[in-house]
Amino acid sequence: MVIYYSRSGNTKQIADYIGEKTGADVIRLETVKTYPSDYNEMLDYAQEEQRNGEKPELKNKNINIEDYDTIFLGYPIWWGEIATPVYTFLDEYNLSGKKIAPFVTSGSSGLSGTRSDIKKEEPNAEILDAMSITSSTLNNYKSLTDNWLSKLGF
Ligand SMILES: Cc1cc2nc3c(=O)[nH]c(=O)nc-3n(C[C@H](O)[C@H](O)[C@H](O)COP(=O)(O)O)c2cc1C
Repeated sequence: MVIYYSRSGNTKQIADYIGEKTGADVIRLETVKTYPSDYNEMLDYAQEEQRNGEKPELKNKNINIEDYDTIFLGYPIWWGEIATPVYTFLDEYNLSGKKIAPFVTSGSSGLSGTRSDIKKEEPNAEILDAMSITSSTLNNYKSLTDNWLSKLGF
């Protein structure tokens, strides 16, 4: 199963492609509140949210993760961290015993230690090799995703 958050669509195109290639179900996390559409306003907003340790409420309720043993988890980097809506997901769901394959988009930061942040939230999950796509490799996302999936055995 693919679970992801995407504000401006970069992570979404990769999530949809993974779904297409693997036949996995794809779920987009959405927040109850609407984030600012202006980029600079959004930067400040997200920084404040992180400072306060807020976990924005998700519209998605009771996602059925039971029947899936591998979760492709997609998120953008916000200020060097996992985007907060994905933190809400990690908070609300227990992924013990599951495999988590993170895929990450960012301007340039890359994974930025978020793999170990997932491990902290989900100590009993197995975190597989992550894929990081930045603005300079985004055009290439299909072949990068193909390589990554085949390395993971899909
Ligand atoms: C609030 C916010 C903070 C961001 N912080 C970073 C950052 O620390 N490093 C970075 O390389 N990109 C940063 N970015 C850029 C996004 O990670 C990048 O554009 C990402 O691909 C957006 O994914 P999306 O289109 O799926 O929402 C930030 C973007 C936003 C909106």
